[in-house]
Amino acid sequence: MRPSCVLLLALASVAWADVTTTVEVETTHDVTTPTEPPTTPEGLREGRRVPPQPKVNHDSSPRDKPKRRTTTEPPTTTGGWEVPECPEELCQPPDCRCASQLPPLHPAPQLVMLSFDDAVNTGNFPFYQKLLNEDRRNRKSQCLIGSTFFVTHEYTDYRMVHQLYTLGAELAVHSITHSTETDLWRLANQTVWTRELSGMRDFLARMAKVPREKIRGVRAPFLQTAGDTSFSVLHKEGFLYDASMPSRMYVDPPLWPYTLDHSYQHDCQIPPCPRGHYPGLWVVPLVNWFDVRRQTPCAMVDACMPYPETVEDTFSYLRHNFDRHYLSNRAPLPVFLHESWLKHPNRTLGYLKFVDWMLEKDDVFLVTVQDALDYIRHPVPLDRYREASCLLEPREEECGLEGQSCGYLRAHPRLIGPRFMGTCIRCPRRYPWVDWPLDEVPATSPKRHGLSST
Ligand SMILES: *[C@@H]1O[C@H](CO)[C@@H](O)[C@H](O)[C@H]1NC(C)=O
Ligand SMILES: *[C@@H]1O[C@H](CO)[C@@H](O)[C@H](O)[C@H]1NC(C)=O
Repeated sequence: MRPSCVLLLALASVAWADVTTTVEVETTHDVTTPTEPPTTPEGLREGRRVPPQPKVNHDSSPRDKPKRRTTTEPPTTTGGWEVPECPEELCQPPDCRCASQLPPLHPAPQLVMLSFDDAVNTGNFPFYQKLLNEDRRNRKSQCLIGSTFFVTHEYTDYRMVHQLYTLGAELAVHSITHSTETDLWRLANQTVWTRELSGMRDFLARMAKVPREKIRGVRAPFLQTAGDTSFSVLHKEGFLYDASMPSRMYVDPPLWPYTLDHSYQHDCQIPPCPRGHYPGLWVVPLVNWFDVRRQTPCAMVDACMPYPETVEDTFSYLRHNFDRHYLSNRAPLPVFLHESWLKHPNRTLGYLKFVDWMLEKDDVFLVTVQDALDYIRHPVPLDRYREASCLLEPREEECGLEGQSCGYLRAHPRLIGPRFMGTCIRCPRRYPWVDWPLDEVPATSPKRHGLSST
């Protein structure tokens, strides 16, 4: 995990805070009172397609005025972003959906997407094992809980990635290098994006033995895409969704995922945003969270300042953001963070308490991002809902013995110092990197815990 990643997100949230008009905080979510979903959720009455055009007068009729205000006034424009029309009659599930705050069916199951970014290794794997313990199941279906890992290559142990897969996790791509220069990602060309994204998918498929066809998601490093340059790569390379694009405008009620058939349709928080049309490619928006004081929006759970420091504050922070989804239109809740946020013992306890609290509910399901999209593609009534990738038992371990532990003294000209890597295959002769794909590396005989000097 690179601390700089969290830092950058935090800075982004501070920057947004500067342009935020803070209004009086309402206490509609009393965290000490158990809340049941109202029979007619507010979000449904107020539900509307995106975008509500500020310039159209009838949109400001009292009927459309939200009764429950967010803690922060949304900006009145999309920041100069012109939102294209989406012809609903031509855009229907399963493969197309216009951006909308309306659920596919009512009532919808509350789907919750737990995700973690960056390298998987001994520093965070014990927590993941604890979280994905077989005893944690979705109450109604009794399926193992789902989760999604956006993995980077450096410092990743692919044997542990394989274990996550056996425990029901979805594996997704967060680039090979996770280079800390955000300009680089914004300006990178299609060749670079293809190597970083498809290259990482290849590493996961081959070194962690995760079925390639199940690796379908992408999150851009630092949430910095290159607009059409990177989105055209996602489309061409057969990815199913992007989970990099925050929304501050459509948080209450929150925005549902949609496809790019008719282009990008919500507020552009981190330009450039794509303008092209990418049929069947989904956007899973990072619907903003609000900090523990319910004032400042942020794109990911661990970017909201100040950080909660006690178990109760952590739980209440997570819960009031959950309630904004659960008590309105039930758009899938993104619980997207870096495990380093949980290094604080009180936050770990608060997080696990929140997870277990959700698992007591019959209408809440912790699912992979792909399962959330599957529901939108094929909606069924709440009482018939079951996760598409339901696992009643962990998958069989297929890493191959205990896998291989590979060491490289000088890993790559662009990297300082040695690198170690666990894999489910024989050690590649060279440390795999963005310009050293696995294809070009003939596997040598097993070298266990040995250091290779090339
Ligand atoms: C893409 O960018 C890389 C790195 O900057 C460069 O080496 C390469 O020539 C570029 N490719 C094209 C097709 O422009
Ligand atoms: C954890 O929370 C307790 C109060 O519940 C507090 O006294 C303690 O300082 C917190 N621990 C840390 C490391 O902040």
